[in-house]
Amino acid sequence: MTERTLVLLKPDSIQRRLAGRIISRFEDKGLNLVAMKMMRVTPELAKRHYAEHAAKAWYPSLEGFITSGPIVAMLIEGPEAIRVIREMVGATNGRDAAAGTIRGTFGSSRQLNLVHASDGPVAAKREADIFFRPEEINGFEPTLRPWVAANDEV
Ligand code: CDP
Ligand code: MG
Repeated sequence: MTERTLVLLKPDSIQRRLAGRIISRFEDKGLNLVAMKMMRVTPELAKRHYAEHAAKAWYPSLEGFITSGPIVAMLIEGPEAIRVIREMVGATNGRDAAAGTIRGTFGSSRQLNLVHASDGPVAAKREADIFFRPEEINGFEPTLRPWVAANDEV
């Protein structure tokens, strides 16, 4: 099933100049970028996006990090994109994330873990609505599609 999910390149990705390499992984996988912008997360936006964590003891530290510099927000589309991208991203802590995942490859921190990816369909819809207006989303039919998966798979 074709899904859309929210991916954020957190401030450490931008500061470490890893944005291009991380985006390439999603393109290489055959997923579609359908929305993308560079922006700054405000404390208000951080509290909305991380609502499930806002009462936790470590939340103020997370808010400090996510608002500390520019991020890139993206919507990425593809077959089972939500689960596939979570698996490409890896476990929260870069020290636990499997080798070959984005966090496992580039990260060694629990907080500075480079990327956010929605954890399920409800979160994907909620988070897409927080970061993008409908006119900022540019879906398209990739001409490569017949070479990425069989017709009866998607
Ligand atoms: O991003 P993910 O869904 O893997 O992890 P989470 O448990 O939903 O936590 C959201 C984000 O909070 C993480 O990606 C970390 O950047 C940060 N975090 C933190 O700063 N301190 C913790 N003890 C746990 C998570
Ligand atoms: Mg999470």
